[in-house]
Amino acid sequence: MLLALLFLAVPIYSTCYFEDSELFGRCYQFNNHSSSFIDAKLNCTSRGFTLTRIENLTLAHFIGSIAVEKFGETYGSYWIGLSRHQNSSNFQWEDQHPLDFLNWADGYPFSGYDYVAARLSDTQWITLLEPTRLPYICSYDAIEDDTTTEGPKTTKGNGYGNGCQKTDLNLENRCYSFNRQLLSVDDARKSCEKIGKTLAVFDDFYQINFVSSFAQSQFAATYTSFWIGLQRASASTPFYWPSGNYTQFTNWSPGYPFSNQLFVAQQISDTKWKTYTPDSLLFSVCSGIL
Ligand SMILES: *[C@@H]1O[C@H](CO)[C@@H](O)[C@H](O)[C@H]1NC(C)=O
Ligand SMILES: *[C@@H]1O[C@H](CO)[C@@H](O)[C@H](O)[C@H]1NC(C)=O
Ligand SMILES: *[C@@H]1O[C@H](CO)[C@@H](O)[C@H](O)[C@H]1NC(C)=O
Ligand SMILES: *[C@@H]1O[C@H](CO)[C@@H](O)[C@H](O)[C@H]1NC(C)=O
Ligand SMILES: *[C@@H]1O[C@H](CO)[C@@H](O)[C@H](O)[C@H]1NC(C)=O
Repeated sequence: MLLALLFLAVPIYSTCYFEDSELFGRCYQFNNHSSSFIDAKLNCTSRGFTLTRIENLTLAHFIGSIAVEKFGETYGSYWIGLSRHQNSSNFQWEDQHPLDFLNWADGYPFSGYDYVAARLSDTQWITLLEPTRLPYICSYDAIEDDTTTEGPKTTKGNGYGNGCQKTDLNLENRCYSFNRQLLSVDDARKSCEKIGKTLAVFDDFYQINFVSSFAQSQFAATYTSFWIGLQRASASTPFYWPSGNYTQFTNWSPGYPFSNQLFVAQQISDTKWKTYTPDSLLFSVCSGIL
């Protein structure tokens, strides 16, 4: 049961931010920073998320089993987005959804204790006082796949086409696909261009972390790197992306770039960039524009 749930937690084409878990189109973010209920709630809402609702037993078990992993505890509890307004007997979800699923532990709720936490041991709910400091879970809607297109979109044919496919991982304006063949940088670039893409372009660290979070399972490897679209024309000129733009940020592994190398690959293990000689045989990631 636990294994099955953990597998679900990392769907190949998830569209949550790095390290968050997706089920049924919602992403769950596990925050191990012990906070009062109000602080937990504010931390979620300040980023456009909500202190999570638990909508049925499937979700309760899914979230509960990941919480045990992420919080590293089997005892204790974590805040969920349920509380009782003062002097009222009614509990309310933070997202205002009707309270149509209950998971109270025996004897709960207690009167005078208005804030709800789920137990790590059995996912059941208990009531506590607001200042109690607990880890908590925020949730947000998964970024939607583009399911309206049939197959690959047309490409612009200039090596910087959109080339996005249904099975790609999408984040912000880019789609990403993984190439498990070990190729030289030239062959890797050509194989991206064949599908209307370029070697991967990253606009920010969200995209870097997002792609990295899938690289290990996609490539079934840890101690190697994949080609990305960053390169330079000579040792004395800046690195640029296939768009022609110089990179606005860098993510080098300590000691890199090597002065005599022009092509960049990203390490699977830690997301950092290293330079390689062009004939190095590596995996690759391609990207297109959504
Ligand atoms: C939310 O909590 C995280 C730690 O869990 C912290 O790094 C971040 O700064 C907090 N954000 C806000 C807006 O409180
Ligand atoms: C639990 O809730 C999710 C999200 O609404 C839904 O997709 C799923 O079918 C529900 N599962 C059960 C067993 O009710
Ligand atoms: C979560 O926080 C608790 C208490 O601060 C700590 O004991 C535990 O090691 C943390 N777990 C992880 C996985 O960081
Ligand atoms: C709750 O009840 C107390 C005591 O009866 C009262 O003083 C307080 O104003 C009430 N609060 C609200 C929000 O109604
Ligand atoms: C490249 O730079 C130009 C000019 O600053 C900008 O308009 C364009 O959006 C950039 N392209 C990419 C892909 O970042």
